[in-house]
Amino acid sequence: MATAFLKGDPVSNHPPRVALIGVHGYGQVHLDGLLRLAATGAVRVAGLADPRPPDPQALERVRALPGGAGVPIVADAAELLERVRPDVTIVSTPIHTHLPLARLALATGSHLLVEKPPTASMAQFRELSAEVAAAGRVCQVGFQSFGSHALAHAARLVADGAVGRLRGVGVHGAWVRERSYFTRAPWAGRMSLDGVPVTDGALTNAFAHATASALRVAGVRDDAAVTVELERYRTASPEGDDTAAARLTADGVPIVVAVTLCAAEHRAPVIVVHGERGRLELEYTTDTLTGHTADGTAVTGPPGRTVLLDNLVAHLADPAVPLLAPLAACAPFMHLLEAVRRDGPARPLPRAAVTEVDGRPVVADADATVRRCAEQLALFSELPGKIFEGGVENPRPAPSPERT
Ligand SMILES: NC(=O)c1ccc[n+]([C@@H]2O[C@H](COP(=O)([O-])OP(=O)(O)OC[C@H]3O[C@@H](n4cnc5c(N)ncnc54)[C@H](O)[C@@H]3O)[C@@H](O)[C@H]2O)c1
Repeated sequence: MATAFLKGDPVSNHPPRVALIGVHGYGQVHLDGLLRLAATGAVRVAGLADPRPPDPQALERVRALPGGAGVPIVADAAELLERVRPDVTIVSTPIHTHLPLARLALATGSHLLVEKPPTASMAQFRELSAEVAAAGRVCQVGFQSFGSHALAHAARLVADGAVGRLRGVGVHGAWVRERSYFTRAPWAGRMSLDGVPVTDGALTNAFAHATASALRVAGVRDDAAVTVELERYRTASPEGDDTAAARLTADGVPIVVAVTLCAAEHRAPVIVVHGERGRLELEYTTDTLTGHTADGTAVTGPPGRTVLLDNLVAHLADPAVPLLAPLAACAPFMHLLEAVRRDGPARPLPRAAVTEVDGRPVVADADATVRRCAEQLALFSELPGKIFEGGVENPRPAPSPERT
């Protein structure tokens, strides 16, 4: 079979050879996915690169694959890419390293699966988009919820007018993070590092899926003009936000994302679709869709999701299979990231709003506050009364409209 993933290349029928850059942290999830697919024969492991060698268990699993004994495992990504010239490269490294590593991979003729957020600025996003196009390769971005069948169903219902006119979309997220989360790596919670943008924070990284998924459910086009208003706070994060609200407006429809990494209790984030005559709730981390349409019909979501690497491999074999999370589809999300980057370090949250529980910061009333934002499509400062149990009074900062 002449596989389409080598379009323009010599005809070949070998399964795509996939390299993984970054094997720890979230890279472990990619390594699991890669090994699972390699065990089926759908891909081959071309090699792994990370300055920190994989742990012995992971190493054993790679070596146990047919031909696994010869898989190169090196510290330096450039060396690996030059040596193996993979068909696909997974980039699962810190945000500010995505663009340079993606460039190296493209230069060896590789397609890409780049973790989210794809880049640390809109300018970098445009550079990456141009270079992917110039190389004639494809780039999938690690917004794994884009493979969710429930999310696709919700988006279809909205597009079909099943909930009536779309009044807006709210997202509320409340997670618990230890203080160590914010110091786990030099880039964690940083807006920049050694003069290079990083743009890490709750809005742009931990809850990036929240915004990207909400934009997709709302049907915001890749080329839509998106304005952004922000209210960003930090408690434990060195620079980035850990408790924040953002309102993105596209075609007059508001999308409010209100999140905290400093909740008293951890729970799944929820996307709330406010239709004029219907309402949907989607837990994008569990693919759970509930609600009702305009005529009162109860909605439940189809379960399951397509894994992004599997989808990329299927797309390369047959371009009629659409890519689920192509780089271009991240453009609306990148307006948020760029607005955050321009906004700079988040404001410290007043001490009165924060308590210390078992070594982690807890923002008073954070869960209830982010829920109210998502219900009322409001920023923190627009909620009636005091927020964070009086820790913040009338905090309204000047909005930061995004003009990119
Ligand atoms: N899709 C998701 O749900 C999800 C979840 C968590 C993290 N992420 C994303 O994954 C990426 C990595 O995040 P993380 O928390 O795992 O980061 P991390 O700091 O733990 O780094 C991951 C690995 O990359 C390695 N690395 C760093 N620079 C490298 C280089 N130049 N070459 C090769 N390896 C290098 C590190 O040694 C580490 O092993 C980020 O973009 C993050 O936003 C995605």
